[in-house]
Amino acid sequence: MMMTRLLAALTVANLVVAAWTFAAAPRPSPIAAAARDDRPVTYDRSSGIAFVLGGVLYNNNDPVLRKDREMFASILEVKPGDVVADIGCCTGFHVFHLASLVGPQGKVYAVDVDAQAVKYVQRRAAALGLNHVETRVSRPLDPLLPKGRLDGVLFINVYHCIVEQKDLGNEKLVTEKVKPLLENIAASLAPGGRLLVFDFPEYREDVRRACARSGLREVPYQGPHAGEITLWEATRSGTR
Ligand SMILES: C[S@@+](CC[C@H](N)C(=O)[O-])C[C@H]1O[C@@H](n2cnc3c(N)ncnc32)[C@H](O)[C@@H]1O
Repeated sequence: MMMTRLLAALTVANLVVAAWTFAAAPRPSPIAAAARDDRPVTYDRSSGIAFVLGGVLYNNNDPVLRKDREMFASILEVKPGDVVADIGCCTGFHVFHLASLVGPQGKVYAVDVDAQAVKYVQRRAAALGLNHVETRVSRPLDPLLPKGRLDGVLFINVYHCIVEQKDLGNEKLVTEKVKPLLENIAASLAPGGRLLVFDFPEYREDVRRACARSGLREVPYQGPHAGEITLWEATRSGTR
């Protein structure tokens, strides 16, 4: 009887210790987990026709989008020999334009979390003999770019995709969600390198907070799409 009580007491004590250990164990935040997750993300491209029509045919043939594309590159002041990146490149609408501007002495990193989109860009670059286009299947919060090298980064219509994803934790902490990604982008810029963010005006203030917290300096921009564009520069002292 005595023995049974002793065993029962020990079992309860073990359970209490196990529960305490589990509760006290540090657990990664969903944001940290996403940053480490290196599985390629493949969005539902069940409609391959929409992918081709939207990403390739429509974008490439729409005169307004083509004009915007030229404008983005000129705001970034892209020139021959530059090293640039298009983060969230999808089917490469900006990539191939950037590749023609930087020329073979320069380099374009075509980055996307979507492995299928990246494969498309890779194949097209190879078919066109563009050896200076380098593709990257990136992580949700890390574009996997070299540090301190880039003269310009485009981040077009990607911010909202990220903050609207439900799996990155508390939806209200939008700035917190993208902070690691913006820190990584900031770290990839050379001193004086520029980041152009284009997205819906409702995200403007959030973008501004997140970029400023990543050590980037805002460059005043008053041109077309001023409500949707924010422009950032890496300073020697400002970025990591
Ligand atoms: C709306 S599309 C914009 C495509 C292109 N930038 C444009 O403006 O034509 C958004 C793209 O961002 C990519 N994306 C979403 N989250 C990303 C992330 N965390 N890092 C890199 N790319 C991401 C998606 O896979 C998709 O290809």
